[in-house]
Amino acid sequence: MSTETALCLLAAGKGTRMRSDLPKVLHEVAGLSMLGHALKSGDGCAPSRIVIVTGHQSERVADAARKLAPSVTCVEQSPQLGTGHAVQMAAPALKDFAGDVFVLFGDTPLIRAETLEAMLAARRGGADVIVLGFEAAVPGGYGRLILDDDGGLDRIVEAKEASAEELAVDLCNSGVMCVPGPVLFDLLDKVTNDNAKGEYYLTDIVGLARAEGLACAVVRCDEEETLGVNSRVDLSAAEAAWQARARIAAMEAGVTMAAPDTVFLSHDTVIGQDATVEPHVVFGPGVTVEGGAMIRAFSHLEGCTVASGAVIGPYARLRPGADIGEGAKIGNFVEVKAARFGKGAKANHLTYVGDATVGEGANIGAGTITCNYDGVLKHRTEIGAGAFIGSNSALIAPVKIGDGAMVGAGSAISQDVEADALGITRAPQDNRESFAAKLRIKLLEIKARQTKK
Ligand code: UD1
Ligand code: MG
Repeated sequence: MSTETALCLLAAGKGTRMRSDLPKVLHEVAGLSMLGHALKSGDGCAPSRIVIVTGHQSERVADAARKLAPSVTCVEQSPQLGTGHAVQMAAPALKDFAGDVFVLFGDTPLIRAETLEAMLAARRGGADVIVLGFEAAVPGGYGRLILDDDGGLDRIVEAKEASAEELAVDLCNSGVMCVPGPVLFDLLDKVTNDNAKGEYYLTDIVGLARAEGLACAVVRCDEEETLGVNSRVDLSAAEAAWQARARIAAMEAGVTMAAPDTVFLSHDTVIGQDATVEPHVVFGPGVTVEGGAMIRAFSHLEGCTVASGAVIGPYARLRPGADIGEGAKIGNFVEVKAARFGKGAKANHLTYVGDATVGEGANIGAGTITCNYDGVLKHRTEIGAGAFIGSNSALIAPVKIGDGAMVGAGSAISQDVEADALGITRAPQDNRESFAAKLRIKLLEIKARQTKK
């Protein structure tokens, strides 16, 4: 018996109820397409081959699939004649495949990898066909799993075909199955479309397997895992369930969150032990926060790294390429893009730092802007270690501020400032004695004349 596994992902459906130009399986949960989530679930069976069945906007789905997993084989199903017909489309790609085939749906993003491991264990335990089932709170339109007297799986009945007695069963079909490849395709050849929907039902293979004396078994999972997305409302429910799971995983890994329900994570967010995430923080894709860092309230991070001991926010924005060093501080209303902050460097208030390096211990005053864009090209700003940039300065890139240099507040710096030098571009101050008092009298006289008229 081959111990290899293959994954067959069904993603041909149109997803009419999404009301979208984007194919359903490319809609995202936590910043990753549902197709990507299904592939991640599939990791649980360590597949040596992956076949994706596409149909609606086939090329677009296939392109996305190849980006996620370059080795996938995409096959097109056209027209779409049911789930059994869809799996049959994978037969040529798996014709020499002797191992177990897992069938997963592309619009079911919450199946845990561990659940597939449990199904694989059940397969190794001897049953030929393994079906993933769940106890549904509202069984509705799901296929019902009908058990035999020994607790084995006897057949699956689609809701449209079910008798009143069968409809009363609350053990339902998730759609996920595990069957040895040769058995699967042999059984599918025998499936007909003689049913209420006129479709080839994948689920019919269970009854056919039993008729041939094969053993079928159910592995159960929580209903939440099987949540399938058909509409934007379902999509938001999947997002909520995914977030709830990810927040718990983060806290269990040692992250402090005072109000986890207000924190939004991405599919690939990495947060180290003893980091703190205050309320209302949003993580876009590609963020790594090291242990011991502090992300304060109302901050937005994407595509960035934050080293230990750094403090971000409140109200900070870290954009792609922000690399915040150990113990550095990025304060309120500070935006950082494609910039490295060295150890202990600070930009505490109202600043934009983009396409820049900020040396260790440098201090960027409130209101400083790196003017990195001339309308056509982007340019770099380099700020040396221990430099001090006075408030409200414009650093007009390309420009270098040397180690230990200072920039006077309010300067517009377009030429390099050498190490330990002061760069300043302010006009000299001119104080005029009693000028304000005299001016005020004049203004009051004008006002008096105007009110008389
Ligand atoms: C299916 C199951 C049902 C189960 C339910 C769980 C069958 C016959 N029924 O019903 O027992 O309780 O899922 O959600 O399998 N697809 C294709 N090509 C097709 C038809 C479907 O690729 O020709 C894909 C869809 O894009 C979708 C998946 O297969 O990802 C399931 O199809 P869907 O029509 O939603 O099946 P259900 O009627 O929900
Ligand atoms: Mg469905």
